[in-house]
Amino acid sequence: MISFCRQLTSLNLITINRASILHNLTYFQKKYPNKHIWPVLKSNAYGHGLVQMVSILKSQDFDYYVVDSYYEALQIWRHHRHPVLLIGPNHPDNFSYFKFKNLALTIDNLRSLKALVGLNKSIKIHLKINTGMNRQGIDPKNLNLALKIIKSNPKLQLEGLCSHLADADNSDQSFTKKQEIIFKDCLKKVQRFGFKPLFVHLSATAGVFLTTGNVIRLGLGLYGYLPGLTPALRLTSTITGSHLLQKGDTVSYNRTFTAQKEGSLAIIPLGYFEGLDRRLSNRGFVKYKNKFYKIAGLVCMNLTCLDFAKTKPKLFAPVEIISPNPVDKNSLAAHSLLADTIIYELLVHLSPILRRQVI
Ligand SMILES: Cc1ncc(COP(=O)(O)O)c(C=O)c1O
Repeated sequence: MISFCRQLTSLNLITINRASILHNLTYFQKKYPNKHIWPVLKSNAYGHGLVQMVSILKSQDFDYYVVDSYYEALQIWRHHRHPVLLIGPNHPDNFSYFKFKNLALTIDNLRSLKALVGLNKSIKIHLKINTGMNRQGIDPKNLNLALKIIKSNPKLQLEGLCSHLADADNSDQSFTKKQEIIFKDCLKKVQRFGFKPLFVHLSATAGVFLTTGNVIRLGLGLYGYLPGLTPALRLTSTITGSHLLQKGDTVSYNRTFTAQKEGSLAIIPLGYFEGLDRRLSNRGFVKYKNKFYKIAGLVCMNLTCLDFAKTKPKLFAPVEIISPNPVDKNSLAAHSLLADTIIYELLVHLSPILRRQVI
């Protein structure tokens, strides 16, 4: 069934530019030669497609793919038998089903630690410390207890110590510094206990500049969403309908767009289900033959109308919905401002069932 579908022409298509991804990865590897750069592929690789990203990264040298869940690890292993670090929470009841050969777990609570002890298996652990984000992580007050549990179970290998920064993208770095100090104290304690974790990490893209730690868990930067980098993702759709509007005609649900003069409307088969944010209704732009056109009316579930004004839409011609060029009006940077959100959210909401192609 799937292979049959592959032969069909897709009306919507996400292309991922391999060279851009590799350029971004190399940029960080060269700039931070003393750090391990680990690609973060959670949430369907930030909308880029987990399988597609694995096909691009397979040839590269890194210690871990970083994902949220065991489910994502299973998907990766179908295409690449390579170590995976889980950074999301897991129900301890599920540990007995896990295959630990190519796996490391981020552990952020004593209950999970005790459940791992009960398995009596060789397991790599990255102990996560809550240094102030108050989302995940063991309270530094409980660190001694956690270390005692690990120490008394030689099959548990404390391979990593990690944390996550809450405010690293703020020009005021005072909170980041506080987190760093707490983390360094915890690291000293871990070392006093006789552990020498191979990997020490608290930086994601926003905290790459920190000198503490020897790993960067690289998400957004890998995909190219920082000045000087190259976004890899383009989303295109196809004009599947058009109408000639007269002055006063209205468009889409609740009639929020009214034509001010006679002009053309183009229809594309892509809506908020596919990942076009509904907050872009009457605000967002798309590109057609190198010109930008505005979304007209409310974005629907699977359809969106475009105000083509004097331009005549050509049936089945391509329209670029997301441009990889960061200065374009239809870049994700522009869309995120218009939709009052962040690039992350727009990326991860791109429907997993959209066809993705690596070019
Ligand atoms: C724990 C953790 N590490 C790393 C990342 C990657 O962050 P970024 O995309 O900002 O590089 C995330 C992203 O959500 C995260 O939650």
